[in-house]
Amino acid sequence: MGAHVQARHVLLGVSGGIAAYKSCELTRLLVKAGHTVQVVMTAGAARFVAPLSFQALSGRAVADDLWTSRAADGMDHIDLVRAADALVIAPASANLLGRAAHGLADDLLSTLVVARGDIPTLMAPAMNQAMWANAAVRRNVEALRGDGVRIAGPASGPQACGEVGAGRMLEPEDLLWEVEALWQPKRLTGRRVLITAGPTFEAWDAVRGLSNRSSGKMGWALARAAWEQGADVTLVAGPTALAPPWGARLIAVESALQMRDAVHEALDRAATDIFIAAAAVGDWRPAQTSSGKIKKQPGESPPTLTLQTNPDILAETAARADAPFCVGFAAEAEELLANARAKRLRKGVPLLVGNLGPQTFGREDSACVLIDAEGHRELPRLPKLALARIILEDVAARMASPTLSDPS
Ligand code: CTP
Repeated sequence: MGAHVQARHVLLGVSGGIAAYKSCELTRLLVKAGHTVQVVMTAGAARFVAPLSFQALSGRAVADDLWTSRAADGMDHIDLVRAADALVIAPASANLLGRAAHGLADDLLSTLVVARGDIPTLMAPAMNQAMWANAAVRRNVEALRGDGVRIAGPASGPQACGEVGAGRMLEPEDLLWEVEALWQPKRLTGRRVLITAGPTFEAWDAVRGLSNRSSGKMGWALARAAWEQGADVTLVAGPTALAPPWGARLIAVESALQMRDAVHEALDRAATDIFIAAAAVGDWRPAQTSSGKIKKQPGESPPTLTLQTNPDILAETAARADAPFCVGFAAEAEELLANARAKRLRKGVPLLVGNLGPQTFGREDSACVLIDAEGHRELPRLPKLALARIILEDVAARMASPTLSDPS
């Protein structure tokens, strides 16, 4: 189970650029996620952010000089890189990318790049948009990609210099996803995954409607886990407070009918391998809706709300001639196993993830049970991301073995 939440040691190289301040937040997020971080700064980076900031956030002195070694044999640069599970350079300036692409080793960070051996390496470029578009930078980036370096970003948008375009370093939260993805096996490369997430909102009038307590966190975790494992991910989500998931295509919807349309459009657009229904789809919607606000009249009895049943998106998808491998969720208030077993058969899906709904909505963790035609497997209470990784690993194994994909 450890591999799904394992703490790692990250060698975080910071080169000179205004985006260096965002790497303070990346350091904090990595530490919060349970990892240890050794920061290495170039001289340029130290002009933007004081090494003390990184020292305080990582709990370790920053390494910044090739010529002062704390190791008796003077081999700090080798020791630093051998201890690491990943080398992450954020921000990676045009200068750093150029030196890295050409194997130059003229300061501590560039020497670590050359000495990195086969540890997973990620660089997050940050520079002015014209510099990013420059032919020499493009050549260097392609050379680094060819050498197996993951180039994360850059994003587009307004820049510190006032210009607008590609060259912004990825946001720290997105970089955290990128870094943790380095350690995930790529079991789903070339696979297309469609996920529903969050609650639905069934409008009654212009201001009122029916919804539920789903936060969308499980769907987001599944999108992240599928993306980490190399899949092309589309997430169809009802209203949530969550930021768009890095790496996945987000289709925002409101009602169950909109969610159903978005799912079928996505399935019609491209052959899909896996469908995971993590959304808490409203079972009913108001039979009559009003485009204005229903007013209360003094002395009148309250209006009667008549409901109409929503389509079952999961069952419909499982019944399609081109049905992907379908995974359902069952949020049960009691009798989890019995109810979830019956639900799996009713929906016609090979795999159902059961959990005790009221105890999981909005939480960061959950305990699940995986139910298939053979029986069930209990998963311990774990963070939703760790559970999502296990579920996707399980699905990937089933896709490789047709006997495990039996919906009957
Ligand atoms: N689901 C769906 N469309 C619906 C209702 C549910 O796609 N209209 C999916 C959910 O995303 C989940 C699974 O079906 O994967 C089970 O949802 P749940 O609400 O637990 O089951 P219901 O079929 O609604 O049964 P009940 O509410 O009676 O427990």
